[in-house]
Amino acid sequence: MKTIKYFTLLAALCLLTLQAAAQPRISIFFDHVSEIARQEHISVREAAQRVRQLGVEGIDVRVTMSDDQLKMLDSLGFQNASAIADINFVRGEQPQAVRQALDFMKRHGYKRLLIIPGLLPENPAPQLMDEVCTRIASFVTEAAKEGIDVMVEDYDNPRSPCYNTATLDRLFAAAPALNHVFDTGNYLFCDEDVMTALHHHLGRIHHVHLKDRKAMHDYASLPVGTGIVPLKEVMGELLRNGYDGWFTVEHFGAPRMLDYATQSVANIQAAWRALSSPSFDEVLKSRRSVRSYDATKKISEAEVRELIRAAQEAPSWANQQPTRYYVAISPEKLKAVQDLVGGNKERIKNAPVLIVSTFERGKSGFFRGQQTNEIGDAWGAHDNGLINSYLILKARAMGFDTLIMGMRDADKLRALFQIPENETVMAVIALGYRAEEPRQPMHKDLDEIVRFY
Ligand SMILES: Cc1cc2nc3c(=O)[nH]c(=O)nc-3n(C[C@H](O)[C@H](O)[C@H](O)COP(=O)(O)O)c2cc1C
Repeated sequence: MKTIKYFTLLAALCLLTLQAAAQPRISIFFDHVSEIARQEHISVREAAQRVRQLGVEGIDVRVTMSDDQLKMLDSLGFQNASAIADINFVRGEQPQAVRQALDFMKRHGYKRLLIIPGLLPENPAPQLMDEVCTRIASFVTEAAKEGIDVMVEDYDNPRSPCYNTATLDRLFAAAPALNHVFDTGNYLFCDEDVMTALHHHLGRIHHVHLKDRKAMHDYASLPVGTGIVPLKEVMGELLRNGYDGWFTVEHFGAPRMLDYATQSVANIQAAWRALSSPSFDEVLKSRRSVRSYDATKKISEAEVRELIRAAQEAPSWANQQPTRYYVAISPEKLKAVQDLVGGNKERIKNAPVLIVSTFERGKSGFFRGQQTNEIGDAWGAHDNGLINSYLILKARAMGFDTLIMGMRDADKLRALFQIPENETVMAVIALGYRAEEPRQPMHKDLDEIVRFY
């Protein structure tokens, strides 16, 4: 009986961990990365690096992409989200474009292929759409033999053979193995309701382009989650229906592509968290000191800001808020802090963020500069512990893990971050994603730590 209880508890804990750790799979068009490089006057590699730091893990590329660029993306750890091929099936059979696309997919291990099948003429002959359907159907069959999943999106041009639900349905009827890239912004273009279209196509959606619009007939792109597309509802419906594919950030024509991408990623992550938020008890149970971090998973500055903003809800003596944070997130500063946490170094070497916490003395526990009781500046340490506990719990609620470290070199940290002398250096907190399940600590018997009177 006891054993069964133990295993049930263990299974429940594993489930909680999985729930909290899961992340949305966010990808971006390589074209957006190139645009960032152009706008920011940086190399394409540096632009790709910046995008990776935001938490983008996948890349959507054209099948004409060079091997060198693909290698560069691989070296930064990008995963293959989808490939895109212009194959003008309106014009006729396209043996050359078909071969190019299939060769690319095979050579580079891409599995999902979005095809852009060209545009119909103004007044198409009645049989033309049938011919397009037949050509696409035979291409889908050929690609399926090589394990490639062919998809079409709702394309924002009335002359496209996949313009709206009616034309898409015609293609899907002709090619049952053809799947759908659901573009959240383009259904607005053909005056269709996004959620209605989503429900209609649910079973076929194998990839999602998250695009937002200002208004029904204003087609300028916006950062995802800032316009009229109901981001949380779309993601919620997809997740409830078992969607586990990519969410590609899309805003062609963005005036500041990097800012847009930063906002889009933050909004997607926030929507995801709101949808998969664990309960408070789940957060308490699944938070543990983690001493091994996943090197492939990054945390963005925007996420750290969200975390600390939430921690600021903690109480403090007379609302003095004496705590200060010094956040190492760049590779150089991370390396420097890793060398200043003694025996913890190995434990936190893959954590993508290290946070030094300090408190300003003479604030908590003081009134008009006078110490108010025997505790003195220890109230500052108390308030620092309080806000840090909010921080580590919020971190868990966001799917992250932490390690509070008291073993650290305060003097060298002070020098590294130029921490003023009136601040006391307290714990360094590692922030990242667990690479393995942490140990479960023993807890004292409740009656050992509490007395009721
Ligand atoms: C102030 C403080 C300092 C700590 N310092 C370290 C440390 O330097 N290295 C370490 O591995 N764990 C450190 N820990 C983590 C504790 O060992 C851990 O919280 C405790 O064993 C209970 O485990 P749990 O956090 O998984 O519940 C510290 C915790 C606190 C609160």
